[in-house]
Amino acid sequence: MTRYKRQDPEITRRKFINVAMGTTAAVGGVSLLSTLGAANPIFRLTRDKMPPLKGDILVHAEASKEGQPIRISDLSDQLVRAWPMGKGENGENVIRKGDPNNILALYRFPQGQIVAPTNLEATIGGETVAYSDVCTHAGCSVADSDQGDGMKCPCHSGQYDPKRGCVVIGGPPPRPLAQLPIKLEGDNLVVTGFFLAMPYPYTSEAEWESFKKEVEDQLA
Ligand code: FES
Repeated sequence: MTRYKRQDPEITRRKFINVAMGTTAAVGGVSLLSTLGAANPIFRLTRDKMPPLKGDILVHAEASKEGQPIRISDLSDQLVRAWPMGKGENGENVIRKGDPNNILALYRFPQGQIVAPTNLEATIGGETVAYSDVCTHAGCSVADSDQGDGMKCPCHSGQYDPKRGCVVIGGPPPRPLAQLPIKLEGDNLVVTGFFLAMPYPYTSEAEWESFKKEVEDQLA
């Protein structure tokens, strides 16, 4: 059983900053991040810890082929795990696995099987879809159900339906797995933006929005 939790001290600091930023904005609009970032660059996210970003390509996460670009023909109704891979500071390829919560679940279902609330415009041809693979309950990695009825979390039996936006169909998860918007570019599966909803471990929209802005500001 793999349990993906944020334990990286840099990420823990990032969460603190996000919360602190929200508090700071509420009381006076002073950018704590700017202040801390200027004083101590360790508060900046490294590229391998950034979330999936527009332009990233999806690569295999399985050890035997880690880093190889995923092709549509690799996908089926069985879960394939992926990492986003983007560019580093010097233009080199960087797999964003420094944050284990960036692990993704990919599926390709026959036409017509993926329905709302999946955002079909964020799929490839209504057939290929990407989600966060991190359970929204406590951060475990979700797998295919051995009953053939969607996805099941090994930690507390949370269940999700990947054909319907990964809505929760059983167990304790509080919300669906977040969908990641993708498109096909040549042979590559390419990310077209941030997760469409708040992924684990975020617990408030304000915190998630603050984090996205932090990333955009850092990339600007
Ligand atoms: S961590 Fe997935 S159901 Fe608890």
